Amino acid sequence: MTDANAARVREMFTRIARRYDVMNSLMTGGRHHAWRRLAADAVVDAPPGPILDLATGTADLALAVRAVRPASRVVAADFSEAMLHEARPKLARRGERRVRLLAGDALALPFRDRTFAAVTSAFLVRNLDDLAGGLTEMRRVVMSGGLVVTLDITRPTVVGWDRVFGIYFARVVPVLGALVAGDRAAYTYLPDSVARFTSPAGLAEAMRRAGLRDVRYRRAGLGTIAVHVGVA
Ligand SMILES: C[S@@+](CC[C@H](N)C(=O)[O-])C[C@H]1O[C@@H](n2cnc3c(N)ncnc32)[C@H](O)[C@@H]1O
Repeated sequence: MTDANAARVREMFTRIARRYDVMNSLMTGGRHHAWRRLAADAVVDAPPGPILDLATGTADLALAVRAVRPASRVVAADFSEAMLHEARPKLARRGERRVRLLAGDALALPFRDRTFAAVTSAFLVRNLDDLAGGLTEMRRVVMSGGLVVTLDITRPTVVGWDRVFGIYFARVVPVLGALVAGDRAAYTYLPDSVARFTSPAGLAEAMRRAGLRDVRYRRAGLGTIAVHVGVA
């Protein structure tokens, strides 16, 4: 990602941080928590050790990971301080003391090689201009036998439903974004970024090229969500 692009993406997430959670619930009818639980369930099989939730946003996946890995500390990193600012009171309300919030860029992680038992991310990979670079960083910081788990939106393939989803996403979501978050541009970027992104099979191939093995994925949310898992 060029510096200018990265700055634009960071600025966009910074703008929408305060309305981010409510928009997720509205857009998905509350289903987004169940999808993060699918990603969290995948790390149950990771070796013992700390877990990195990358691009944690308001820390919902970090919390879902803690629920299934009570013995693991979680580092929850994001390059938007505004998102972390929203995460902080949420963690405090839950009395969560084993999630450490950290400002950091997915493309230049401030960790030594093989630090984590798993790296998770929800709704990040589609935002990375340098997908190969991001996956390589994830692979680098995971210990041997550890897991890289990604969750992101994907285009459904069922004929008919793909059109309905396309219309909802491209026409309705930007209007919701304008009305609720006051930011039509950010919620136009969202469907555009999904349209531009690779297929689930393409992401699986990119993960293999980054050095991960036994890569597998499953779709959920009527084919609109994909959870990928690769072993380091
Ligand atoms: C769509 S939000 C997802 C937040 C959270 N993971 C969730 O499940 O709701 C994408 C997040 O990725 C972060 N992000 C995007 N690119 C990043 C990068 N290169 N490094 C760190 N964070 C990044 C944004 O700041 C934003 O908080």
